[in-house]
Amino acid sequence: MNKAEKLDDIYSCYKEMRSAASQEVLVELLRELQEVQGFIDAQMIERAAAVTGFKPVVAETIVKRYPSLKAAPYKHKVVVCTGRNCSQKGNHILLSKLKKSLGVDKNGISKDKRIYLTTVNCLRNCLQAPNIMIDGIVYSGLDCSEICDMLAEDKKKI
Ligand code: FES
Repeated sequence: MNKAEKLDDIYSCYKEMRSAASQEVLVELLRELQEVQGFIDAQMIERAAAVTGFKPVVAETIVKRYPSLKAAPYKHKVVVCTGRNCSQKGNHILLSKLKKSLGVDKNGISKDKRIYLTTVNCLRNCLQAPNIMIDGIVYSGLDCSEICDMLAEDKKKI
């Protein structure tokens, strides 16, 4: 079965469940679609919404909010904490610098498509503020150049 056939098969399966479609069902559908392609593109969002009877904006919001769902085939996720404790220690400035250094677009994807940059209100590590998270690991007190160096070092290994 090729990729298109696998996707059609998944859509068909969920279409039969449309009458009982809840947000959890939509999330499960999006997860299955991601397994086929590695990420969820705009066309998949439209079709998933149509199949389950939700508006596309609902599916789009779910993809943005669920950490396990990816809207693009990026390699690393960088989360900057913009909560009060981290902002007071410079994370808003750090966020601006990272956006500029990585060439991040309006969807949070870097110019080289390897990095997804997003924010969170608290990483539950306030005592060590300012904090960021890279691929699920929390780091404290890093500046923009240190973060870019970490991401660049990884690039050399690829
Ligand atoms: S405000 Fe940043 S970890 Fe809590």
